[in-house]
Amino acid sequence: MRKKVTVVGAGNVGASLVQRIAETGLADVVMVDVMEGVPQGKGLDLLEAGPILGYDTMVTGTNGYDETADSNIIVITAGLARKPGMSRDDLLAANGDIVKKVAWETGKRSPKAVMIVVTNPMDVMAYVAMKATGFPRERVIGMGGVLDSARFRTFIAMELGVSVENTHAFVLGGHGDSMVPLPRYSTVAGIPITELLSADRIDKLVERTRNGGAEIVALLKTGSAYYAPSASTLEMVQAILLDKKKILPCSVWLEGEYGVKGAFAGVPVKLGEKGMEQVVEIKLSADENAAFLKSVDAVRTGCAKFM
Ligand code: LAC
Repeated sequence: MRKKVTVVGAGNVGASLVQRIAETGLADVVMVDVMEGVPQGKGLDLLEAGPILGYDTMVTGTNGYDETADSNIIVITAGLARKPGMSRDDLLAANGDIVKKVAWETGKRSPKAVMIVVTNPMDVMAYVAMKATGFPRERVIGMGGVLDSARFRTFIAMELGVSVENTHAFVLGGHGDSMVPLPRYSTVAGIPITELLSADRIDKLVERTRNGGAEIVALLKTGSAYYAPSASTLEMVQAILLDKKKILPCSVWLEGEYGVKGAFAGVPVKLGEKGMEQVVEIKLSADENAAFLKSVDAVRTGCAKFM
């Protein structure tokens, strides 16, 4: 039987993700949005690209939830996007209500699904989704670290004039202004960038990574990034559907790992068909650990509004 992925939200991130999934042919896709006609129109448009690009993916657009039943993965992108000058946290109240509703509506129709949360402020929204669905922590995973790491990799590759394929990076903590890029664990062809670049240069790349989302919001003016966010989410979808056991930085509910109990935060995890199959613990220096805990505190402050 073909796998099924539901994407809630047919805005830029949601629709780009549906396009990427359709083009890989990995799973049929149901796209849900409250805007009448939008998911249906985008869905039909994507179907009509199939004969040219050679995919048979079924894409269904709907304003309801019944079509989402028995999905393997549910991706939540619904909500408002940032405008220039807004932080991710400014979206808290409005998006909290939306995520609570859509997580509940989709979760009860696909009780075995893995839920990936993309809506900002992402770590807090992942908590809202876990509460709304009652899903175990293995099956509610936030997308942020893959995106932040991809941005860091882009800037490292630009700085050193090497292929992005040679780069690897880890950005941990919350997907917010206090995220924690880890230069010691970020490499070019296996060589830590701390061996290749001065501390000054690294600081600039770290800063640009932290501001990566805001840099794009400031340029677009009417919304936030979506090409890299949808690509990041696709990597997680693929890891789960193909049971890859791929280690990626994702936001998960920590139960003592990294010395944190009861909070969502970005850490390296192993993704497979069961969702988050393992939290991978790497050794942090005192400074890195302090920055990580500060970032977790920022997420906790946001979550407190939903307890
Ligand atoms: C970003 C937003 C989507 O980082 O969080 O671009």
